[in-house]
Amino acid sequence: MIDPEVQKTRKPTYEINPLFVNRWSSRSFESYEIKDKELFALFEAARWAPSSFNNQPWRFIYAKRGSAHWDSLFELLDDYNKQWCSDASALMVVIAKKTFDHNNEPMPTNQFDTGSAWENLALQAVTQGLATHAMAGFDHKKARKNLGVPDEYDVMAMVVVGKRGSKERLPPSLKEREIPNGRKPLSEIVMEGKFGNKVNMK
Ligand SMILES: Cc1cc2nc3c(=O)[nH]c(=O)nc-3n(C[C@H](O)[C@H](O)[C@H](O)COP(=O)(O)O)c2cc1C
Repeated sequence: MIDPEVQKTRKPTYEINPLFVNRWSSRSFESYEIKDKELFALFEAARWAPSSFNNQPWRFIYAKRGSAHWDSLFELLDDYNKQWCSDASALMVVIAKKTFDHNNEPMPTNQFDTGSAWENLALQAVTQGLATHAMAGFDHKKARKNLGVPDEYDVMAMVVVGKRGSKERLPPSLKEREIPNGRKPLSEIVMEGKFGNKVNMK
């Protein structure tokens, strides 16, 4: 079932599993202590994503709030993201191996495939009553240096995971943005046969 809160702003034009629209990137988090079992289930879901040659280029570096590693991930974030992330349960940096394991040749789809792993993780989180939010707003170079990421991996994104909190916890400027957003119509993103060919869709 589509969450009543989500239904107000998200109306799929074709029937789909509600999971897809129930995932949205909120910013308010309760200060919830996530169990390893819950967190590791998210990585388990990510693990089953498809990838070219089944190379599985995705890697995740995580820190739970309150752990010895939390500060070293948190300090990578830009000021905008820092203002709403501090109560989240865990932070992670998602990286993507640039080469195939079997021959060391460049893997052209490493970022595409790592993107599908992140989406698996985000959808699994919804099924566990958790929320995720991906972020590009962090210092990529510092992440590589401070976390010891080797050159053969791309630093892609950071992700925050937690239990969604009330929007009252947010500063005023973020409160009004704390609603599930919409999407471009299908007719703008789908083409039949050739670029630019419009399709008659709802
Ligand atoms: C790779 C990536 C980077 C993002 N970076 C940020 C960010 O730095 N800060 C932020 O508040 N939201 C960030 N977002 C969240 C997007 O704004 C959000 O996914 C988009 O508006 C769609 O909304 P939804 O995820 O709620 O469906 C990012 C999302 C992705 C996928």
